[in-house]
Amino acid sequence: MNILWSSDPEAVEKYRFALGTDTQALDSAAMVARVLHDNLGIQQVIIGPDVALEPACDLAESARLDRPELGVILLRNRVDVTTLSQALRSGMREVVTADDHTALADALRRSRELTAKLAGHSGAGSGNEGHIITVFSAKGGVGKTTMSTNIATYLAQTGSKTLLVDLDLSFGDVAISLQLIPVQSVFDAVGMSGHLDEQGLGSLVTTHDDSGLDVVCAPNDPSDADRIPVHVVTELLKVARQHYDYVIVDTPPSFTEHVLAACDISSALVLIATLDIPAVKNLRVAIDTLDMLGSPKDARIIVLNRSDAKVGLRADDVVTAIKTPIAVNVPSSMTVPASVNRGVPIVLDDPKGAVSVAIRELSDGHIRQRFGDPVNGARTSHRKSLFKGRR
Ligand SMILES: Nc1ncnc2c1ncn2[C@@H]1O[C@H](COP(=O)(O)OP(=O)(O)O)[C@@H](O)[C@H]1O
Ligand SMILES: [Mg+2]
Repeated sequence: MNILWSSDPEAVEKYRFALGTDTQALDSAAMVARVLHDNLGIQQVIIGPDVALEPACDLAESARLDRPELGVILLRNRVDVTTLSQALRSGMREVVTADDHTALADALRRSRELTAKLAGHSGAGSGNEGHIITVFSAKGGVGKTTMSTNIATYLAQTGSKTLLVDLDLSFGDVAISLQLIPVQSVFDAVGMSGHLDEQGLGSLVTTHDDSGLDVVCAPNDPSDADRIPVHVVTELLKVARQHYDYVIVDTPPSFTEHVLAACDISSALVLIATLDIPAVKNLRVAIDTLDMLGSPKDARIIVLNRSDAKVGLRADDVVTAIKTPIAVNVPSSMTVPASVNRGVPIVLDDPKGAVSVAIRELSDGHIRQRFGDPVNGARTSHRKSLFKGRR
């Protein structure tokens, strides 16, 4: 199926000879992005001559990472060298003169053939992409790192190819929680910006041997955080989801621009609440912010951490305040800080304990199930390891 992006209401008729009947006309970049996101069956986007070059190239550029199998073809009233080189650099497959319908039909045929080859070759396309899940709370100390490291460890240990990315860029403690000694970090993605690939991503990763979890750690030097452009993080996550079943993102306690970028491309958000007024207030503000940004409500999974704390506030009060049901209650347990101090995630350190049971319920019942994955470790990832010989 094709999309024709043009504000000319007669465009579909005009190009019918080349496009055939299976074409949906859309008149804005936002609509094109939405339909591409919702409909994985789209194979080609044809961009009309009335669309400015810059937004057209922006679309091709993001599609190149998001959906490498998607063919983007640009129509121009006049094709000059500057347009051609800019378009091809952004990842468009062809640039065609708008009134040459035979050339357009040929370009579409070539693009369709390439799409079919890419789909057949890699066995992957966007339909086979992994899922990015961002764990967030606007307050520190509520259990973001505890949840993200344990969800990721459990998913990896039970057969899903999983990457944990520490986006708490200044004060990240994923490495220390898992006793990892990273050689590279998120910061090293900066030098690969624009051409980060599977091998480049592999060079950033440190593996947690006990579970097989891959981790991209936060920089050692907190000041490096300011030198990591947002687009580098977006590129890192988009490349990662092409090679992992799950990409779990740990975050700092505020909506930094990096966090917003991660939320924007996440398939689900795990939002952590605790039974204290500031945490509930901050969660309410975070939810309002997400609403304002148009983030879908059904992508949110609310986790109440330390749900059994006797502090006067009840779970019902939290639900009333945040107007969202709680998916999973995780009790308080001394085994959690003890496991952190030992550098062994609680799901491995105390797998039968109540905290581990709750984290498994969250991972299987609310994460895997939402994406139609078999639960409880029944799945073995079809994805190959980034490093030969491992797993
Ligand atoms: N369910 C729990 N029971 C007991 N301690 C917990 C629990 N969840 C988190 N903690 C402890 O609370 C502290 C903060 O947790 P952490 O995950 O680092 O929070 P954040 O990443 O949100 O700042 C840590 O010492 C952790 O061990
Ligand atoms: Mg943390």
